[in-house]
Amino acid sequence: MGTTASIAVLPGDGVGPEVTDAALRVLTAVASRFGHLFKFATYPIGGCSLDAHGTPLTGETLEACKQSDAVLLGAVGGPRWDDPSAAVRPEQGLLTLRKELGLFANLRPVKPFPALLDSSPVKPGLLKDVDLLVVRELTGGAYFGMPRGRERVNGHVRAFDTIEYHDFEIRRIIEFAFGLAQQRRRKVTSVDKANVLETSRLWRQTATAVAPDFEGVALDHMLVDTASMRLITSPAAFDVLVTENMFGDILTDEASVLAGSMGMLASASLGSTGPGLYEPIHGSAPDIAGTGAANPVGAVLSAALLLRYSLRLDTEARAVEEAVGCAVADGHRTADIGGRLGTEEMTSAIIGCLHRM
Ligand code: IPM
Ligand code: MG
Repeated sequence: MGTTASIAVLPGDGVGPEVTDAALRVLTAVASRFGHLFKFATYPIGGCSLDAHGTPLTGETLEACKQSDAVLLGAVGGPRWDDPSAAVRPEQGLLTLRKELGLFANLRPVKPFPALLDSSPVKPGLLKDVDLLVVRELTGGAYFGMPRGRERVNGHVRAFDTIEYHDFEIRRIIEFAFGLAQQRRRKVTSVDKANVLETSRLWRQTATAVAPDFEGVALDHMLVDTASMRLITSPAAFDVLVTENMFGDILTDEASVLAGSMGMLASASLGSTGPGLYEPIHGSAPDIAGTGAANPVGAVLSAALLLRYSLRLDTEARAVEEAVGCAVADGHRTADIGGRLGTEEMTSAIIGCLHRM
């Protein structure tokens, strides 16, 4: 029996629509190859929604996401909406969506394809055994902490944000990371800045308290500055990294370099119930938007994560991941990883592999 699923598609801004199209082509190929029925419905988010509806996330888009089995997103933002004094920004749509769907766990796997070891500025010898998973807390920290704002103090403008974490928010993401580590190499590195931040001290204390519940999984703590160095000097030593929202945002852009390009990395954002949200980690790439040159792999691998985590179709997820591996092994490359293919040709190469496998 095949699976029937409704997928809300939020292409967003910049290259978002181009890479989302690629992911939909791959999902459609998966559906026909494995006998499933995926129903796609497209909704606005981000800057395009701001232009059309005056808000980066309409009630209709949010409701449709809540009703769906999974959400596939492209990217949001761009220079058009970058005015620092603007009241709302496209990114606010994405942040509200994450919060409203309760997506506290953001999974960002980094496993360089063997054929792409030379695409990274990091030496291939350091990369060949890299298989790490960053588990980023997604609904807390400085992204959502209150108060935030600006005020005038003694003739100067003062701006402020708040980093805030409750023990239960830390506990659930640490438990999530440990659960995933049990299925992997059983090693959790909790990343914090406990030598400076109070939230990090609570983070470290909570991680230490959770660890005994997961027998056989080793926990170590690492300061975020050290972690940012070790990601480059000994990336293969990591299994699962778990960290707070902003550290995770920064470290995953860094980690993407290991995979050859930002364009290669996928992410899954999950909550305890309800639909997951799947998006490449790259942004809207305004410099190449509309040129058909964007790397579709991050979006395609996000679709693989959607198959795995929201639809429980692990065989299909692996088929997509292997198809990407096969396409790059055959030498197919977009510009960001040293080739000449456009988004559509790269996608066709992946689909060709999927059908041949
Ligand atoms: C990401 C992005 C977002 C974030 C932006 C677009 C708000 O950088 O998903 O990593 O900071 O979370
Ligand atoms: Mg980011």
